[in-house]
Amino acid sequence: MVNEPEDTGLKPKLAPVSRSRFRLLRHYAEACLIVFLALGGLGLLAAGWIAAHGVSARDAPTVLEGIVARITRHLAVPAKERRRTNPIPPSTEALAEGMAHWADHCASCHGNDGRGDTEMGRNMYPKAPDMLLQKTQGLSDGELYTIIKNGVRLTGMPAWGSPGPDEDSQTWKLVLFIRHLKSMTPEQLEQMKAMNPVSPMAKEAAREADAFLSGSDAPEPSTPTHTMPQPGASRKEKP
Ligand code: HEC
Repeated sequence: MVNEPEDTGLKPKLAPVSRSRFRLLRHYAEACLIVFLALGGLGLLAAGWIAAHGVSARDAPTVLEGIVARITRHLAVPAKERRRTNPIPPSTEALAEGMAHWADHCASCHGNDGRGDTEMGRNMYPKAPDMLLQKTQGLSDGELYTIIKNGVRLTGMPAWGSPGPDEDSQTWKLVLFIRHLKSMTPEQLEQMKAMNPVSPMAKEAAREADAFLSGSDAPEPSTPTHTMPQPGASRKEKP
């Protein structure tokens, strides 16, 4: 015969430890639910905003987007990188190299003068910035270097340097050039126009314009509606 345990009339009590653990779990679940609902709400807001505004790149980003993007980008550049100063001392040769590099690779979006007022630069989202302003000039040398080398995610700014920690003197010369933008002379801007890449289509348009202006029987030059940015093409224009 098995002896039944004596009924003491007392309910089993939870140990104090498991009760506090239970409370902790409940708080954790509540916190998860709040975060989940908040994210869901933000998602709905974002969906509504996109439905109302579309995804066109023509608009200018809102002030809030601009601030969030700049803070995020700032935080994404490690402090050690940000503190770096340009190891290339300013010299006529280094500046000339940076200028030639810029005219060839960067001017299509940023313009020879760095103001970003090109067909491509002003139709992007976010737009290519006016680099003469404090927003750009206030960035440290190291920050400019990192942005050029690694590009900026979710924007039109490509990564130009090779990946990895190696030094890239070409990129440092571009940083020198960005610092020089405010002192650009009209002669330097003219020199750069001659270094801008020109597409076969723009070359043909310039040839047609030359033939028309010189009074030959050439038909009036056509104006393509989808021109690629060709800052250098204008050097062919006649007064
Ligand atoms: C295809 C277009 C495009 C080309 C080509 C391009 N960029 Fe950019 N760049 C951008 C855009 C768009 C931004 C703005 C990114 C942002 O808002 O964070 C930008 C931002 C920058 C910035 C940060 C400035 C600031 O204040 O936010 C630097 C520096 C820069 N570019 C340098 C260069 C250099 C140097 C080259 C050439 C080697 C180059 N870019 C070529 C589109 C371009």
